[in-house]
Amino acid sequence: MAKIEVDKQLEDIKKVASLNEGKNLKYCILTMGCQLNENDSEKLCGMMESMNYTKTDKLSDTDLIVFNTCCVRENAEDKLFGKLGEVKKYKEAKGTIIAIGGCMMQEKHIVDKLKQSYPFFDIVFGTHTLHQFPKDLYTKIFENKRIEDVLDIDGEVIEGLPISRNDNIKASVTIMNGCNNFCSYCIVPYVRGRERSRNPEDILNEVKSLAKQGYKEITLLGQNVNSYLKSGNVDFESDVKSFADLLREVNKIQGIERIRFVSPHPKDFTDDVIETIRDCDKVCKIIHLPLQSGSTKVLKAMNRKYTKEQYVKLAKKMKEIIPEIVFSTDIIVGFPGETEEDFEDTLDVVKQIHFEQVYMFIYSRRVGTPGDRMENQVPDEIKHKRFDKLKALVESQIQENNQKYIGTVQKVLVEGCSKTNQDVLTGRTDSNKVVNFEGSKDLIGNIVELKIVSEHMWYLKGKIV
Ligand code: 5AD
Ligand code: SF4
Repeated sequence: MAKIEVDKQLEDIKKVASLNEGKNLKYCILTMGCQLNENDSEKLCGMMESMNYTKTDKLSDTDLIVFNTCCVRENAEDKLFGKLGEVKKYKEAKGTIIAIGGCMMQEKHIVDKLKQSYPFFDIVFGTHTLHQFPKDLYTKIFENKRIEDVLDIDGEVIEGLPISRNDNIKASVTIMNGCNNFCSYCIVPYVRGRERSRNPEDILNEVKSLAKQGYKEITLLGQNVNSYLKSGNVDFESDVKSFADLLREVNKIQGIERIRFVSPHPKDFTDDVIETIRDCDKVCKIIHLPLQSGSTKVLKAMNRKYTKEQYVKLAKKMKEIIPEIVFSTDIIVGFPGETEEDFEDTLDVVKQIHFEQVYMFIYSRRVGTPGDRMENQVPDEIKHKRFDKLKALVESQIQENNQKYIGTVQKVLVEGCSKTNQDVLTGRTDSNKVVNFEGSKDLIGNIVELKIVSEHMWYLKGKIV
């Protein structure tokens, strides 16, 4: 990223910070959506804290509310509009500044709806202008006018902005923005633009700095991580030339003990990445491999570019090369044209692969995507029936799978105290299973060996060995 651009933002941060000095102002952020959005929110928090705002969770007692929105499924829209209705009274009572950013703001029909039905907002910003938030806020405060800062052209990758992370053991690092795949159900390519990879050296420096700060687990983020450095402007001066190279380099960084990544696309899962996962001791042996549908016909309509057989073959090949590997996945039910037989194919893949975790979604029509224009939409009632059937299968598999853990010794990265009981510690296995156990708080941030003694559907119980 051009340094001038970042200097400009830092200047705007200083300007707002001096306007706010001594005023004891607070901000509240509401984040919807995926880990990439969570990571963007950490950047927004970094900016707001540098501008002399302190964080609060209390919507009723804040000076600035930021919504970081998602538009992957319709329920996120309902959530935003519901919350906006709620915050209107705070705006009226104390003049709270309301800023709305993120993916949903890249959709014109949504911004139009905001203007019409929720005209009390102050700032709207998109995914390509997130870094300009300090400038937008300054203009709002200084000139007291409503700001709309949404661009359709892909923003450059911005380096060097402040960040305030919400965990001190696990950190996410975005390695690329955007997506070139245009799966026919998905709005992401329209709101996040084309793939832009970050300079590998910037990524490695960020991970090294996280390791120095004591972070133990890194999740590399991108809409399509295994096409990292495969498209767009990738002429960087670095020995890292691919996602596999990047994984190998991150694996060498002292202090980092676990590496995860989301999401890869099955069609781009090359052998060099599989071999790298095998060779790198820190790379967790659970791979998120989004299936979306088990039917070759539906996959074709989804523009996923693999068949049922190719998916199953890929998972089996990975298992042959890395016997301890397990998988998690995303599945959409009720995509247009999905018949009972197609849905049975999805169930069949779930039965064959025995996923460790399944994120299940009911197909949601997204304006502007090819899926939305398809005529053979599945009725809601059928979608829900299929969803419930899939959920029942997945839950029975999880229970069965949990049994396999009992009596085994697992390496668990201790993340903190359990939310519901301060005397219980909680952590995760390499395979991302939550394990609760009793132990000293000094263990937080360390990997401990635990014997699994019981299972409780969404978590396991362990004992220090
Ligand atoms: N409807 C339902 N689920 C969707 N996803 C993406 N778009 C849609 C949609 N229109 C799911 C996919 C993706 C995950 C992040 O969200 O499964 O992998
Ligand atoms: Fe959406 Fe497909 Fe891109 Fe994932 S790979 S962000 S599902 S278009």
